Amino acid sequence: MYVLGIETSCDETAAAVVDSQKKIYANIVLSQLETHEVYGGVVPEIAAREHLTHIDKVVQAAMKESGLGFDDLAGVAATSGPGLIGGVMIGMMTGKAIAASRDLPFVAVNHLEGHTLSARLSDDVDFPFLLLLVSGGHTALVEVAGVGHYVTLGTTLDDALGEMFDKSGKIMGLPYPGGPEIEKISIETKDPDFALERFPLPRPMKGRKEMNFSFSGLKTAVKNHVDKLPEGPLSRQDVADLAYALQETVGGVLKERCVRALSFMKDKYGKPVPLVIAGGVAANKRLRSILKDLAGDSAAELVAPPLALCSDNGAMIAWAGIERLRYDTPFDFDAPARPRWPLDYLTAQKT
Ligand code: KG4
Ligand code: ZN
Repeated sequence: MYVLGIETSCDETAAAVVDSQKKIYANIVLSQLETHEVYGGVVPEIAAREHLTHIDKVVQAAMKESGLGFDDLAGVAATSGPGLIGGVMIGMMTGKAIAASRDLPFVAVNHLEGHTLSARLSDDVDFPFLLLLVSGGHTALVEVAGVGHYVTLGTTLDDALGEMFDKSGKIMGLPYPGGPEIEKISIETKDPDFALERFPLPRPMKGRKEMNFSFSGLKTAVKNHVDKLPEGPLSRQDVADLAYALQETVGGVLKERCVRALSFMKDKYGKPVPLVIAGGVAANKRLRSILKDLAGDSAAELVAPPLALCSDNGAMIAWAGIERLRYDTPFDFDAPARPRWPLDYLTAQKT
C-alpha cells in the first residue's frame, strides 16, 4: 500500500511516498529557514505564501523520486492541524485535490499523531509505549496505547522546549533556530564541570509529583547570566559554557519527568514499556544519550527515529495515513484545517 504524505503546518514544505512495509520511496523537505531567519522566527503569512509557491513542485519531486504514478497510490494523507492555519490549508487542499481527482481516500492527519507514530515507521515498536514529544511548538509526555489511543500525561505550562532553546539561543546571540546551534557550540566547552559551576540554572518543577514541564524560567535564568557578563558581544567560550549548562539542565529535567511517567506506565501495564522520543528537539544527540540511560531499567528500550524523521517531514504523515488506512478507509474530504487539535481527542481505532 503506497501513500503520499504532505506536511505544511510550519516552515517546511514536505512530501513523501511510503508503503505499508515501512519503505520510504521519497522524502522531500524544502525548508524555509533562510526566509524566516532574518525575522528570528517563523512569520505565518510568509510561510503560507512560500508553501503555496512550492507545494506543487515538492509533490512532483516526491512522486518522481518514488517512480510511482498517482494511480499507484492507495491514498493521500495531509497534515490538517494543529499548526499555522494558512500553511495547513494549502497542504490539506493540495492533498484533497489529488485524492479527489484520482478517487482515492484522503486521510486528514493530526501533525502530532505523525510525530507520535514516526517511531513505528523507523523501528518495530509495539503499543503501548511512552512518547516524549519535544518540538518548537509542543512538549508532552503521552501514553500511547494504540492508534488514536492517546492520553497526555504531562505538558508544558509555558514555553515549549524547542521554543525555549530558540529564545535562549537568541539571548546568547546565536542564529535562528537556537536549538541545533546550542547543541553545536556546547561541544566547545573546555571544562564541563566548571561550565555548570559558572552558570547554575534552576531545575523547574524539580521533585513535583505531576508530569508537567515549565521552561520559561530557564530562559529567564539564561538572560540573567548573560546580563551579568561584561558588556559587548559574548566570548565564544562564554556561549559554549552557557549552552552546555543549559543542555545538561534540560537533560536532567527530561530524565526526571520520564522516570516518573515510565513508572506510571509500568504500574499500569505491569511491565516496563518503550520510551519513544519524537519532534525536532529529539534530534539532539546529547539529550538522546541522557535518555538512553533509562533503557533497561525504567524503560524497556529507548526508540529514537533517525534525525530526518524527527523534524517535520512528509514520511511521518504518510505513515500516520497508513496506520489509519489499515483499520478504516477514511474519506476525510470534509475535514477542516485546525489551528488547534489536541492528541487526546482523535478517533480511537479498535485495538
Ligand atoms: O518538530 P520541529 O521540526 O517543528 C515543530 O516545532 O513542529 O521542531 C523544531 C524545533 C526548533 O525549536 C528547533 O530549535 C528544535 O526543534 N531543534 C533542536 C535541535 N534540532 C532542532 N533543539 C535542540 N537540539 C537540536 N539538535
Ligand atoms: Zn512538528
